[in-house]
Amino acid sequence: MDVTCSHCGTKGKVVFDVIHDASAEEKKGNTVVETSNLSKRFGRLVAVNALNLFIEEGEIYGLLGPNGSGKTTTIKMLCGLLRPSSGFAKVFHQVLPMKQVMQDIGYMPQETAVYLDNTVHENVVLFGQIYGMNKEEIMEKEQKILTFVDLIDRRDELVSNLSGGMKHRLSLACAMIHEPRFLILDEPTVGVDPELREIFWNYFNILSSKGKTILITTHYMDEASHCSKVGFIRHGSLIAEGKPDFLKKQTKTDSLEEAFLVLAKERN
Ligand SMILES: Nc1ncnc2c1ncn2[C@@H]1O[C@H](COP(=O)(O)OP(=O)(O)OP(=O)(O)O)[C@@H](O)[C@H]1O
Ligand SMILES: [Mg+2]
Repeated sequence: MDVTCSHCGTKGKVVFDVIHDASAEEKKGNTVVETSNLSKRFGRLVAVNALNLFIEEGEIYGLLGPNGSGKTTTIKMLCGLLRPSSGFAKVFHQVLPMKQVMQDIGYMPQETAVYLDNTVHENVVLFGQIYGMNKEEIMEKEQKILTFVDLIDRRDELVSNLSGGMKHRLSLACAMIHEPRFLILDEPTVGVDPELREIFWNYFNILSSKGKTILITTHYMDEASHCSKVGFIRHGSLIAEGKPDFLKKQTKTDSLEEAFLVLAKERN
């Protein structure tokens, strides 16, 4: 397809290289994530293929792609939960896995990972402790975070009694209890009602304006357009990256969904 580099104006045809929005790098600040040829194989399956990602401080980076394209596997390597087969991932300039960095990261997994036989409060305490907080710190933050996810009235309820969306909201609260510098959210708004999704996104924008960095995956394309930068991943490879408007413009489409389909077709 024909592309024009928005940085130097060079026109060209991009087929196999990643379409890259140079203007998205104008405000280069502190790099939070850097991956170099990051790859993960499961037997013969290449789940993540030579991924080169750069995420700057304060960015809301949306990693988008179809089911099985490697988003969660990438995220798990960025949390230090999976070791790369080759290449490396750095977060805050440290090669992962690195214990010291973990307390700066908040991770909300795709599958809601909260303890069903415990109360909402007990879960918050447990996750706070895992992230190295003491009891006083947890008590101080708990009220705020449970109010934000609208679970303050359910504080002493068993998690098994909560609805699916409520469990998801609790999982988000647990990932944010220690106010991490880097928040990794794997489909945080699945099963969350539209009103609360809007509240979440307003909050993500506030966090970003305070210099917090967010990496998010979502299948809701209307949400993805709120990201400061988007990376399209397909079969484990990054096929395009840039500001949402750039990607739409380059593909002459009106939505990120259409943009992805155009780019995916180009590759077939
Ligand atoms: N532990 C594992 N062992 C074997 N294969 C795995 C493992 N984890 C993931 N995979 C495979 O790696 C590929 C990428 O999976 P991944 O979960 O990263 O996709 P995804 O982009 O997050 O998809 P979704 O949108 O459905 O969440 C898939 O083919 C999946 O089956
Ligand atoms: Mg996933």
